[in-house]
Amino acid sequence: MVGILGYPVDHSLSPPMHNAAFQALGLDWVYVPFPVRPEALESAVHGLVACGVRGFNVTVPHKVAVMKHLDEIDNTARIIGAVNTVVINSDGRTRGYNTDADGFIRSLYEESVNVKGTAVLIIGAGGAARAIACGMLREGAREIVIGNRTQEKARNLAEHLKKSYSQVDIKWVPLTNVPALIPHCDIIVNATSLGMKGQPPLEIDLSSAKPDAVICDIVYSPIHTEFLSRAREKGLKIITGDGMLLHQGTKAFELWTGHDAPVDVMRRALNDLLNSGS
Ligand code: ATR
Repeated sequence: MVGILGYPVDHSLSPPMHNAAFQALGLDWVYVPFPVRPEALESAVHGLVACGVRGFNVTVPHKVAVMKHLDEIDNTARIIGAVNTVVINSDGRTRGYNTDADGFIRSLYEESVNVKGTAVLIIGAGGAARAIACGMLREGAREIVIGNRTQEKARNLAEHLKKSYSQVDIKWVPLTNVPALIPHCDIIVNATSLGMKGQPPLEIDLSSAKPDAVICDIVYSPIHTEFLSRAREKGLKIITGDGMLLHQGTKAFELWTGHDAPVDVMRRALNDLLNSGS
């Protein structure tokens, strides 16, 4: 058994996605949502270990708080500063991972996007931006710029990343300075919640982008945000946010089961949910 700890957790798309994968591979596993209040987090973690559960995902609001209740933290999760996947081994030891970075990178690689040597602009400085920046740095990006509305968060993230990647050019700018950087960047990522259903779109003019620039969005509801639609109209390559969501899951599946994830089965389950408006 595996599951997800969050509060609330009823809208998570992970249970049907993983359960479809278990079924497709004929594995006798099940993925269960666990609504856990913040004050119950520690006992929930110990309870899952005691029950012999193989692992779990962690979502809002527990991604940082769970770290102090785990035995080990993987290096990428340590740099990101948050855990979204926990593996419980046979002797009950817990190890925390963050599969968001791998998820984003896999979503690029499956569309044949090269990261090594690129100049990357990440708009946003929250948890998703942190994970994406770590993934891009690990894959050999040449330059990273963080653009964010709240300047202090952009500065803090850039300073934090420099500690682990001192040889890479890592900068930050206020959101208002982002347009000036567009012509310079190979990969541009919206890592804010702008463009999500019920939120205003991210208004950045991409007219000056390089013709081979790749434009990515972490928002997956809707899959084609206004930001991406405008990029596509300009003939730019786009990467939609459902890929990162899918692949944070394929990576977690592999960590828990040791099997290759049935990517197409999981993609289909996810697309069915996204298309049904869940
Ligand atoms: P997540 O963990 O999903 O990244 P988060 O930590 O709440 O979520 O971060 C949300 C990001 O979206 C932040 O970069 C936030 O900018 P601020 O740091 O200035 O808050 C950005 N964001 C959300 N709404 C925004 C808006 N209306 N305009 C600009 N940026 C916005």
